[in-house]
Amino acid sequence: MSALIFLGGLRLFAAEPWWQHALFYEIYPRSFQDSNGDGIGDLNGIARRLDYVKSLGANAIWLTPVYPSPQVDFGYDISDYEAIDPQYGTMADFDRFVAEAHARGIRVIMDMVLNHTSDKHKWFIESRSSRNNPKRDWYIWRDGRGPGKPPNNWLSDFGHTAWTYDPHTGQWYYHKFYSAQPDLNWRNPEVRKAMYDTMRFWMRKGVDGFRLDAITTLFEDIHLRDEPVLPGLNVYGDPNVQETLTNNLPEVHDVLRELRKVTDEFPGRVLIGETYLENIGDLRKMYGAHNDELQLPMDTQVGFINRLDVREFRRKINEAETELGGDMPLFVFDNHDNPRSWNRYGDGIHNEAIARVIATLLLASRAVAMAYYGEEIGMVTTPPARREDVRDPVGLVGWPKEKGRDGERTPMQWDTSRNAGFTTGTPWLPVPPNYIDVNVATESMRPESMLKWYEGLIKLRAGNAALRDGAEIMLNTSDYNVLSWLRKNPGAGPSVIVACNFTKLPQTVSFDLRTQGISATMARSLMDTGSAPLSHVSLPPFGVFVGEVR
Ligand code: NOJ
Ligand code: CA
Repeated sequence: MSALIFLGGLRLFAAEPWWQHALFYEIYPRSFQDSNGDGIGDLNGIARRLDYVKSLGANAIWLTPVYPSPQVDFGYDISDYEAIDPQYGTMADFDRFVAEAHARGIRVIMDMVLNHTSDKHKWFIESRSSRNNPKRDWYIWRDGRGPGKPPNNWLSDFGHTAWTYDPHTGQWYYHKFYSAQPDLNWRNPEVRKAMYDTMRFWMRKGVDGFRLDAITTLFEDIHLRDEPVLPGLNVYGDPNVQETLTNNLPEVHDVLRELRKVTDEFPGRVLIGETYLENIGDLRKMYGAHNDELQLPMDTQVGFINRLDVREFRRKINEAETELGGDMPLFVFDNHDNPRSWNRYGDGIHNEAIARVIATLLLASRAVAMAYYGEEIGMVTTPPARREDVRDPVGLVGWPKEKGRDGERTPMQWDTSRNAGFTTGTPWLPVPPNYIDVNVATESMRPESMLKWYEGLIKLRAGNAALRDGAEIMLNTSDYNVLSWLRKNPGAGPSVIVACNFTKLPQTVSFDLRTQGISATMARSLMDTGSAPLSHVSLPPFGVFVGEVR
């Protein structure tokens, strides 16, 4: 909610909400910093590292789930929504962590898993106890199509049928994800109320908002029709289906409006959505027709293009700039569910230079930015080599084709000491061997490190008026080798041009900015890559130029 500033009865301007240009930093608590030697990261560990988060320039932390959980899906299977899992600390540790973050001007966003609970949650235990238990209808129970036959062809995102048979009551329950994550029935008003109250509980404790897990999957077709089958098999060996009856149903928007009302009871809170959507039209809908749904649905369409294709990036970034009705996009390239961008975009030879290009796309765009711990030092995906080492249920079901998500969840690499400074015990996932070079301590001493590149861009985006507020205008739009854009100063001050070489060959570009009302012939580099005449900006393989023009 934006606050209005009044002076002597005169309405001056609407102050921007704090998240408008923010950098969010995703922390996977298990893997960030262990404080008690059990090999599992925890809240006190994160608290110890808050000065680092601050020095990086992040405005908020998104904490993935720390609630009590059997940890089948590492916290995304919640068994109590109003407590802290002892593995991660106590409620007092949590309160202290929030207070210490706030003291440094860092906001805290909780992960909220509304689609499903753990099968060990008391609601589900009650629900499965008998067909006429008052909580039966809190979950999705149905009869099968015959003995051993699930109600329909719906598939779990984690492989195989989305239905599990419960012999005790002779019915099947639905789970979009793992069988230990039964879906709640969002058509039941009691479920809605219980969840909204949970969110109020955390906001009263001072949390600054929520990242809504799997938010597009809250509803399924009420008639239980089969999903349309497509040719071929997926990585789990199941038939491909088109997810039209279990994902992104229109009813989701009714809930988003209710959620927004609940969070608006507490000024300054923000709702971020996990919104993997096909197109910009669907993304736009997530903001609500009257800006009454999510403030920041994630734009995964830019960050997950997954190949350095100038035309695709130009098209997608431009869509975010022009087709969201002026709302802020939220760009994200990395998270705990996907191989790191280092590996998704790297060519095996120029990965470091390519990672700088990715950082520039993320941080020099007119978008709120989401970074994932370790991205800023160039951590690499390190998947398990043997099935017996796999921890993620996705890898356990999908092995060997799908190795799961352990590879992007390895411990944060702090320094060159044992276990990269993550733990004095045995880390829950092995520390990648490259920690000797790729770590915070080493990189903070090296002016040309990845960490320094991130810090530099983050500082610029916060302090430079054009990079902060300026419109993003694509330049040289028929160039297929170099992606260039202008960040046009909204006032009279200097603007900024950005050029990213998407190829392994050196490239030279020239800019004529007169149609943009800019008569400059030189650009002054803002990232220590030298000044350049606008008629001749030279870029090494996968090189980046960020320069100020007057
Ligand atoms: C998305 C989360 O990011 C992922 O880690 C989790 O497994 C699923 N939702 C299910 O909660
Ligand atoms: Ca610990």
